[in-house]
Amino acid sequence: MTGQPISDAELGSVFEAAKWAPSAYNVQPWRFVYAKRNTSRFDDLLRLLVPANSVWCRQASVLVIVFAANYYQYKGRTQVQKLNVFESGMACMSMLLEASGRGLLAHPMSGFDVDKTYRLLNVTRKSHTVLAFVAIGRRADTEHRPYELISQRHRQNVFVFRDRFVNTDPTDADVKQS
Ligand SMILES: Cc1cc2nc3c(=O)[nH]c(=O)nc-3n(C[C@H](O)[C@H](O)[C@H](O)COP(=O)(O)O)c2cc1C
Repeated sequence: MTGQPISDAELGSVFEAAKWAPSAYNVQPWRFVYAKRNTSRFDDLLRLLVPANSVWCRQASVLVIVFAANYYQYKGRTQVQKLNVFESGMACMSMLLEASGRGLLAHPMSGFDVDKTYRLLNVTRKSHTVLAFVAIGRRADTEHRPYELISQRHRQNVFVFRDRFVNTDPTDADVKQS
C-alpha cells in the first residue's frame, strides 16, 4: 500500500455499503472503529497487529476493527442477537467489495491481539464479539505479497452440493485422533 490518504467521502461510501447488509429483524449488529494513518490512534491499532501484519499495515491509509454487538433491545427487553457474527461478516464483505470496486485494496486480518482489542474498544466479550481488522489503502505498483501470486480457491465441487451433502470435512473423530 502507498500510505496515501483516503478521503472521508471515499471512506463514507465504503461504510455506506456495509450499512445495507441484511440482518435478522434488521438489528444491524455490525460495528466498525477506524483510525486514519498519521494519527496516534492509528498507531494504537497498528500495535495490536501481529508483526507479520503490522509490517505492511504501516502503509495502510485506514485501519478498521470489525466487531459485533451481542445484544439488542426489543420491546424494552435485552435479547441475544444469535447471528450477529454472520451478519457482521456480510457487512464486512460489502465493505470489501465496495472498496475493491473503487480501486482500493481492502484486506481482512485475524492476526491481532484479541484481548488487547477488547480493552482498546472498552467492551467485554459478553457484550460484543471482536471479529477482524481490515486494512484499507491504495495498492502500490510494486505490491506483491507472496501469497497473492498463488491466490486460488477450491473448485465448486468442494463446497457446492446438489440435493445432499457429502462430507469430506474433518469430523469429531478426527479431532479426537489428532
Ligand atoms: C478471517 C480472515 C482472517 C485473515 N487473516 C489474515 C492475516 O492475519 N494476515 C493476512 O495477511 N491475511 C489475512 N487474511 C487474508 C487471507 O489470507 C486471504 O483472503 C486468502 O489468502 C486468499 O487470498 P485473496 O483474498 O488475496 O485471494 C485473512 C482473511 C480472512 C477472511
